[in-house]
Amino acid sequence: MKQNVYDNSTFFKAYTNLRESGITYNDFIEQPAIKSIVPNMKGKSVLDLGCGDGHFSKYCIENGAKKVIGIDISTNMIERAKKINGDKHIEYICVPMEDLKLTNQQFDLVISSLSIHYVEDYSALIRNINRLLKSNGEFIFSTEHPIVTARKGTSHWISTEENNKLHWALDNYHEEGKREHDWFVDGVVIYHRTISTLINTLIENGFVLDKIVEPQPTPVGLEKMPKLIHEKRRPSFIIIKSKKLNE
Ligand SMILES: C[S@@+](CC[C@H](N)C(=O)[O-])C[C@H]1O[C@@H](n2cnc3c(N)ncnc32)[C@H](O)[C@@H]1O
Repeated sequence: MKQNVYDNSTFFKAYTNLRESGITYNDFIEQPAIKSIVPNMKGKSVLDLGCGDGHFSKYCIENGAKKVIGIDISTNMIERAKKINGDKHIEYICVPMEDLKLTNQQFDLVISSLSIHYVEDYSALIRNINRLLKSNGEFIFSTEHPIVTARKGTSHWISTEENNKLHWALDNYHEEGKREHDWFVDGVVIYHRTISTLINTLIENGFVLDKIVEPQPTPVGLEKMPKLIHEKRRPSFIIIKSKKLNE
């Protein structure tokens, strides 16, 4: 059974409040990095997997994409996307990305921002993404970094009694699979995969790697969110850009 925590009203409210604050890891780490490696989108067709409130779908249109399809499992997020990031060139579909068919369409670019760690069967998803891309089409996704998802439980920093962070505790790295943590509500499920799994699954399914980014906070981010200084000690996210091989 697929988790749909963004349709939990407590979670949804807290999450949208956070994103509306504009003071987030997304704003100061992940989004600047992913935007820095997207290709020229002029005239391209884009599939945005786990599109959330659709801000990235809208960004693609504003940067020249001719058509975007945004996919999300959450009715709350899709409704919000239609309301605040609607556009006649964007179609939003509420469906788990694992179940996406779109049998008669192929895209120039598939993008997914911080959503793939919610998917259990990564291999099947990558196979489907390959099918959904044109030859030479690009696939760019960000996900929580395996260094962050590896450990079980929620306490990752080893700290002094005065709460000074000493070390990041990496553990259980090679034990892939389900992790539960508390984020706005108890028991939010994500899936841990090693770096080799993230990359080799792409290679085994007809992709060539183009770039890997382990993003660091922007200077403005460090000013507005001083705790982001700890990102220099270990990365929270990894962004992988790859291309579908010619068929
Ligand atoms: C952290 S949010 C990111 C949203 C958006 N990509 C962004 O960058 O703001 C994760 C999104 O993934 C969606 N999601 C989680 N599991 C999914 C699944 N199996 N299929 C499609 N969407 C999913 C959630 O509903 C949520 O909107």
